[in-house]
Amino acid sequence: VIDVGKLYKDTGCFTYDPGFTSTANCSSKITYIDGDAGILLHRGYPIDQLAEQSNFIEVCYLLLNGELPNEQQYREFDRAITQHTMVHEQMNRFFTGFRRDAHPMAVICGVVGALSAFYHDSTDINDPHQRTVAARRMIAKMPTIAAMAYKYAIGQPFIYPRNDLDYTSNFLQMCFAVPCEPYYVNPVVSRALDKIFILHADHEQNASTSTVRLAGSSGANPFACIAAGVACLWGPAHGGANEAALNMLAEIGTVDRIPEYIDKAKDKTSGFRLMGFGHRVYKNYDPRAKVMQKTCHEVLDALGGHDEPLLKVALELERIALEDDYFIEKKLYPNIDFYSGITLRAMGFPVSMFTALFAVARTTGWIAQWNEMIEDPEQRIGRPRQLYIGSPQRDFVPLNQRD
Ligand code: ACO
Repeated sequence: VIDVGKLYKDTGCFTYDPGFTSTANCSSKITYIDGDAGILLHRGYPIDQLAEQSNFIEVCYLLLNGELPNEQQYREFDRAITQHTMVHEQMNRFFTGFRRDAHPMAVICGVVGALSAFYHDSTDINDPHQRTVAARRMIAKMPTIAAMAYKYAIGQPFIYPRNDLDYTSNFLQMCFAVPCEPYYVNPVVSRALDKIFILHADHEQNASTSTVRLAGSSGANPFACIAAGVACLWGPAHGGANEAALNMLAEIGTVDRIPEYIDKAKDKTSGFRLMGFGHRVYKNYDPRAKVMQKTCHEVLDALGGHDEPLLKVALELERIALEDDYFIEKKLYPNIDFYSGITLRAMGFPVSMFTALFAVARTTGWIAQWNEMIEDPEQRIGRPRQLYIGSPQRDFVPLNQRD
């Protein structure tokens, strides 16, 4: 590791690193990734163990506090999150100000930003207690806001949070319940979605998390910083890849067409890539993708969708690609997005909500990283350098003398 800050002070040299592929902007104790070995740890715990043995609320606690909670800490944290799930009645009006066909991510971005106007008097970022309350508010209210954005888009009344349900079951009922009809939360679906939330909870310095840190480095209101993270996540290169993978599987349609698409992906002139394959960091199997594939089967088993043609295409595509020299040589494995689209669609979520679900989960990582940054004595306002390639100095020419 080279301390480039010191190098700059001593020599005036700085690095040119588009996309920050080799530049660390912070040190962090939250998440560790070894992309070559296919390892992802949160606070030292492997992601597959967390997904299989823990639950999302416990993982939120872990990311925020550094340790797994004991029973009393767990109960207290769970109760605090549950009590913060409601949004102020006045917030309903923000929703109704949006066009009915607005994308849920646009609505979520606006409404989360508006939380900074609601809590401007109780969000002193230098006060650890107020930071804790802000973190709990954000984790608790994000599913409510995401579900409200969905209900608004489909023209149904908002469904209020239910304190008797766990975090993920409550989210499902806010999305899918309708007034005057009983709603039964399928425990397999709830557990599967909880796992998906765990898999998406944090992924160290990805684009949206870096955005939250950069916004927060100026001392900005945390809700405004999370709104910046939502805006970044919305981009198709970040949160939108599972939608692209699902569309690709639908386009392939049947297993006999797979070789045609494999050939197309290998042909550089086609401009086509296998969506849901490859990762900037993982040059081995994405450990989240393994859990995701299993979760996909669990959901389809429970909902009776195992004959889903897209799953057949996905399984066969994965099998063929993993035996193909091109994909082996370039270390291209299925990533988390490869199976998540099929799973979420089977649960009943429309494609437009896929990134919103990602935002619900990643809120925990954003707020944990924001909090870590505020507490870090070494952290300074983010101010990337640039390589200026514009005009050299020249004299101003009045308008009437220009060609
Ligand atoms: N299909 C076919 N070829 C591919 C694919 C793919 N999905 N991904 C990479 N390659 C090839 C590239 O053409 C390149 O070949 P070359 O060396 O002959 O030029 C080589 O593999 C390396 O690719 P890069 O683009 O340099 O790798 P990078 O790490 O920058 O890209 C990325 C990673 C963007 C994820 C890429 O693999 C991709 O476009 N995948 C498809 C989109 C996708 O699934 N995105 C989701 C990412 S996961 C997430 O966001 C949660």
